[in-house]
Amino acid sequence: MKKIKVELGENSYEIRVGSGMMERIGLWLREKDFSGKAVIITDSNVGPLYASVLERSLANASFKVTVLEVPAGEEQKSLETAGSLYNKLAAAYTERTSLVLALGGGVVGDLAGFVAATYMRGVPLIQVPTTLLAMVDSSVGGKTAVDHGQLKNIIGAFYQPKFVIADIDTLKTLPREELSNGMAEVIKLAAIRDRGFFEFLEKNMEQAMALHAGTLEEIVVKNAAYKAEIVGKDEKESGQRIILNYGHTIGHAIEAVSNFKIKHGQAVAMGMIEENKIAGRLGMLRESDAERIEEVIKIAGLPTKIPNLSTEDKEKVLEAVKHDKKVLNDRVRFILLKAIGNAVISDRVEPELIGEVLFGWGKT
Ligand SMILES: NC(=O)c1ccc[n+]([C@@H]2O[C@H](COP(=O)([O-])OP(=O)(O)OC[C@H]3O[C@@H](n4cnc5c(N)ncnc54)[C@H](O)[C@@H]3O)[C@@H](O)[C@H]2O)c1
Repeated sequence: MKKIKVELGENSYEIRVGSGMMERIGLWLREKDFSGKAVIITDSNVGPLYASVLERSLANASFKVTVLEVPAGEEQKSLETAGSLYNKLAAAYTERTSLVLALGGGVVGDLAGFVAATYMRGVPLIQVPTTLLAMVDSSVGGKTAVDHGQLKNIIGAFYQPKFVIADIDTLKTLPREELSNGMAEVIKLAAIRDRGFFEFLEKNMEQAMALHAGTLEEIVVKNAAYKAEIVGKDEKESGQRIILNYGHTIGHAIEAVSNFKIKHGQAVAMGMIEENKIAGRLGMLRESDAERIEEVIKIAGLPTKIPNLSTEDKEKVLEAVKHDKKVLNDRVRFILLKAIGNAVISDRVEPELIGEVLFGWGKT
């Protein structure tokens, strides 16, 4: 088992990563002086697999446990579901010191995190991520939210967990497509800041996709440590954290235009490849580095090409890029690579170049 500390003054917390962790969570929480009631919030895929082992672990450590299950899926990240969870927390006589454990992927993490942040103005939150994406990204950093109408993550709060416990064994039951989705964020982080780790991924991606526990543990530890470091320097995402948006400017646009039928990880993979082409056109990134990134993306089971789009949808993609959240002084800011492991913020990308790289527009 490996331990990582997120340094945030009095909001600091620890991340533990390893195998066979679920059985030990109750004991660890007692060691951290938690006691009393514990509410596990999970979804209809994860609950049947892991809620009982977590429940037993907590009950053995003398917690009084309630399990609340919501249907699986992004649609549950809503005020309505949050409302029904508040009712159930009230029915279980949840107190200010009672724990909320988010057992699941990023959807459960964001939803349960939002509920924990707001119920009684905040009850202690423990993240128990069960997808690769949640282990390397969403469970660390304290961003919690629900969606509202068409707007994703629009209602939320920064609310740090007290503890993050990532049990690698849970990845064995994760659908392969979800493993690939998480891997997009892993590749992104290596590409923006660590050439050595990128080389590790080149050598080990096949093993990781074959669920080799040691390799997966190393990947999760490395990524959680990066995320912890970045969050420690920039808790509320005002500066540094922007470089985590590599692949996301175009990725988000494609994801939105597909009406979220294209999964986030898949869209980010396409985004990284297209943004590398842009960096290449600006004379920043060597073709050989772009090819290496594309190869790792392919081995991770992610798409390397934008799907065929109608002209109308292509226009919508460009429009969405123009309204990216990183726009400053009317200029879209891209995170571009100068080399593998070296990302910079650039506002030199003209809209014409985006149309040309993505759709071959304006070429003679
Ligand atoms: N808070 C943040 O910083 C942050 C960062 C990135 C993404 N997110 C959010 O995360 C969400 C996506 O998270 P996700 O990709 O983990 O999706 P998810 O939570 O929907 O999980 C994917 C699917 O896998 C199932 N599942 C989860 N763990 C499993 C396991 N061990 N075995 C079998 N099935 C399992 C789930 O039930 C679901 O069907 C989005 O809502 C996104 O907005 C948040």
